Amino acid sequence: MFKVISNEMVVPNIHLLTVEAPAVAAQIEPGQFVILRSEEDGERIPLSIADWDRDKGTLTFAIVNVGGTTDKLASLRAGTDIPTVVGPLGNATEIGEFGTVVCIGGCYGIGSIYPIARALKEKNNRVITIIEARSSYLLFWEDKYKQVSDKFVTITRDGSRGVRGHITHLPEILGGLPEPANRIIVNGCTFLMKHTSEISRPFGIKTIVSLNPIMIDGTGMCGVCRVSIASKTKFACVDGPDFDGHEVDWAELLQRRKTYIREEAIPLRTSKCEEHAANRRGNIV
Ligand SMILES: Cc1cc2nc3c(=O)[nH]c(=O)nc-3n(C[C@H](O)[C@H](O)[C@H](O)COP(=O)(O)OP(=O)(O)OC[C@H]3O[C@@H](n4cnc5c(N)ncnc54)[C@H](O)[C@@H]3O)c2cc1C
Ligand code: FES
Repeated sequence: MFKVISNEMVVPNIHLLTVEAPAVAAQIEPGQFVILRSEEDGERIPLSIADWDRDKGTLTFAIVNVGGTTDKLASLRAGTDIPTVVGPLGNATEIGEFGTVVCIGGCYGIGSIYPIARALKEKNNRVITIIEARSSYLLFWEDKYKQVSDKFVTITRDGSRGVRGHITHLPEILGGLPEPANRIIVNGCTFLMKHTSEISRPFGIKTIVSLNPIMIDGTGMCGVCRVSIASKTKFACVDGPDFDGHEVDWAELLQRRKTYIREEAIPLRTSKCEEHAANRRGNIV
């Protein structure tokens, strides 16, 4: 069993969950993920690493509450034990001496791009970090980012902090840099990674994305995380999750992520009606 050390709602709908898993914490690297279960008969879901403490043996994840399992994870209290933390899984993000690297995080990527930015800074890269959200109240870890970034930019859809709008402002941000960017690394929702890749393509800047197809085992056995990269089939869990964003078949990925959309609605519906349903069953029996 793995103990929940803390679980705080850092901004509405996003929790920072810290669990004790010393064997995983000893090995994990930026860009890798783990598979978690919140309870014995729960589903396994993949989560990217957002931070860790090797001395304390802890892992921290930024979790967006989107459905049944993330909802359960969000409700875990400190001191609870969870049955499964498997990892580290996937390949670590390549951390080289690239020169100027733009790190972009949105959604849960505001968490998972952090260790990548930190590792790039430690390798003496010039790190430009961009985090984006609908509004300023959905941004977090700004202080942590300022410590590892040469330039830190926020984008909010409503203009409440930083650049107003969307990642479509990337060309202006790139144009304002004293030197051309050598690499872009994006973590977060599929649309953010897709749009960034489309925007960066004409600039010829290598753009690395961390793909998030549906995963089950996370070890290359079930095939459910199949993605097409440069027209070749890859398994995101073992060949990725990082790939060149200019080579991803985004339409296929978006389509496959929606495969179980009807079934995914059931746990939320049933948990809300659980008491009512139990009462009804009781009446019938
Ligand atoms: C490598 C990887 C890293 C990820 N890292 C994070 C992270 O750090 N933080 C975070 O909040 N989310 C992360 N995700 C997405 C997260 O796994 C899903 O949001 C979660 O599984 C949803 O489960 P649910 O039961 O709460 O919602 P559901 O209602 O079951 O699903 C909501 C949506 O989440 C996606 N999803 C559902 N089940 C899975 C699954 N088994 N694997 C992948 N996607 C699924 C589907 O697109 C689905 O439409 C990551 C996904 C991958 C593949
Ligand atoms: S999750 Fe099963 S092969 Fe990748």
